[in-house]
Amino acid sequence: MSVIFSGVQPSGTITLGNYLGAIRRFVPLQEEHQCFYCIVNQHAITVPQDPAILRQNTRNLAALYLAAGIDPAKATLFVQSEVPEHALLGWVMTSISYVGELERMTQYKDKIAGRGESIPAGLLTYPPLMAADILLYQADYVPVGDDQKQHIELTRNLAERFNNRFGEVFTIPDIHAAQVGARIMSLQEPTKKMSKSDPNQNATIFVLDEPDQIIKKMKRATTDSDTQIRFDKENKPGISNLISILSICTGKNVAKIEAEYEGKGYGQFKQDVGEAVVELLRPLQEKYHEYIQSNYIDEVLDAGAIKAHEVAAKTMQRVNEVMGLARK
Ligand code: AMP
Ligand code: TRP
Repeated sequence: MSVIFSGVQPSGTITLGNYLGAIRRFVPLQEEHQCFYCIVNQHAITVPQDPAILRQNTRNLAALYLAAGIDPAKATLFVQSEVPEHALLGWVMTSISYVGELERMTQYKDKIAGRGESIPAGLLTYPPLMAADILLYQADYVPVGDDQKQHIELTRNLAERFNNRFGEVFTIPDIHAAQVGARIMSLQEPTKKMSKSDPNQNATIFVLDEPDQIIKKMKRATTDSDTQIRFDKENKPGISNLISILSICTGKNVAKIEAEYEGKGYGQFKQDVGEAVVELLRPLQEKYHEYIQSNYIDEVLDAGAIKAHEVAAKTMQRVNEVMGLARK
C-alpha cells in the first residue's frame, strides 16, 4: 500500500481537463492505497479571491470530489486551511528554496505575464507550499496532470535537499501520470491546455455544463482543413485532443477510434465526442446536485481535517526537532 496525495484549487468550476487529468483518476486509487485528497484553498489565494465565492467554491469542489466517487471511508478528503501544518511546513520549504529555481517555474512565468509591478509574492512561493502539502503525508505518488510535472520535480529536489541537511525525514514522491488525458487541450486553441480561466467561453468544458452547451462547444472546436480523423498531435492538435477525450470517455484505444471513423466526417465525429462527454458527466452532475444540498459535505470535511491533522502533525514535529525549531 502506498500513500497518495493530490490537490485541486477551489478557484472556479472544475473543467473537463481537471476531471480527466486528475479527479477521475483519484477514485480507483482509493481502493488500494492510503489517499489524501485536498482542497487547496491556500493556493487559491495566491491571486485575489472574493471571500464569499471562495467559500462557495470550496463546498462545490467537495461536492464534486464526492460525486466523482471519492469515498470518505476509504480516502481522506479535507480543506488545506483547516490543517495548519500546511502553512507551517510551507514556510520551511520556502526557506530552503532558491529564488532562482522558483523563478524558473513555467506556471509562475505564465501567471506573472502582464502583471507589471504588482506580482503577488505568493505566486513565486506557491511551489514550496505545494511541496509541503505532499511531504507532510510522506506521499509516494502524486496523481496530477502534465502541467504539474515541474512542481513535482521541485518537490523532489526540496525533499532531497532537506534530507541531506537534516536527516531522512521525507519520502521522495513520484508523479503518477495519466496514460491518456494528462493534458486536455483548449477546444479553441488546441496547442494550449484547457484552463478554468480561459476568457474564451468556447475553449473550456466545465463539468457542470448543460448537455446542449457541451455539444455546442464540441461542434465549435477548432480542427483543421484536412478531413482525416487521425491522431497526430503535431499537425492535427485539435482532432488529436478530441480523439483523446473520446478514448477516455469510451475506453476505446486511439487505433480503434481511428479505424471506426475512417471515411467519416468531422461533423459526426464532433457530435459523437460531445455525446460521449455528456454521458460521462451525467452521473457526476446528478450526484453533485444531491451532495451540494446536504450537510454531508461538512461532516466529511470535519472528519477529514482531523484525520489529516494526525498525520501532518507527526511529520511537522519531526521537522521541528531536526531543524532545531523545537526547544526540547
Ligand atoms: P488546478 O485546477 O490547477 O488546481 O488543477 C487541478 C488538477 O487538474 C491538477 O492535477 C492539474 O494537473 C490537472 N489539470 C488541470 N488542467 C488540466 C488539463 N487541461 N488537462 C489535464 N489535467 C489538467
Ligand atoms: N498546484 C496544483 C495545481 O495548480 C494544485 C496543488 C496544490 C497540488 N498542492 C498540491 C497538486 C499537491 C498535487 C499535490 O493544479
